[in-house]
Amino acid sequence: MHRVVAVAIGLASIATAAVVAAEPPAGAAACSGCHPSSPRVTSPVVRLAGRDRAEIIKAMQDFRSGARAGTVMDRIAKGFTDAEIQAIAAWYAAQK
Ligand code: HEC
Repeated sequence: MHRVVAVAIGLASIATAAVVAAEPPAGAAACSGCHPSSPRVTSPVVRLAGRDRAEIIKAMQDFRSGARAGTVMDRIAKGFTDAEIQAIAAWYAAQK
């Protein structure tokens, strides 16, 4: 049993390391749980990839301040600092 757990943890850290290399800044991976990363996914939640950087920053700041109402984004945005929002926005804007 302990061995199985150890192997599982080992695999998880290898997977994490592999993902981190080509990967988004802190927090950005969480967005793709709702905002689809693939254009083939049909979802009522808009894609962030390729969106204008300033637009993403503005939306996140407005959700965070309450200037823009959201069902979930207002709460999510509160968990991010300006620096994190800028890094995430820049990363998404650079995606296809
Ligand atoms: C739990 C699902 C969920 C997660 C996780 C999530 N979003 Fe959202 N996002 C939404 C929904 C739903 C909306 C539509 C507004 C609302 O209802 O809150 C939205 C709207 C947005 C918008 C405005 C899009 C537009 O033009 O109307 C931006 C920008 C955005 N999200 C960025 C992000 C970023 C950046 C992250 C990761 C830090 C993120 N979202 C994580 C569900 C999510």
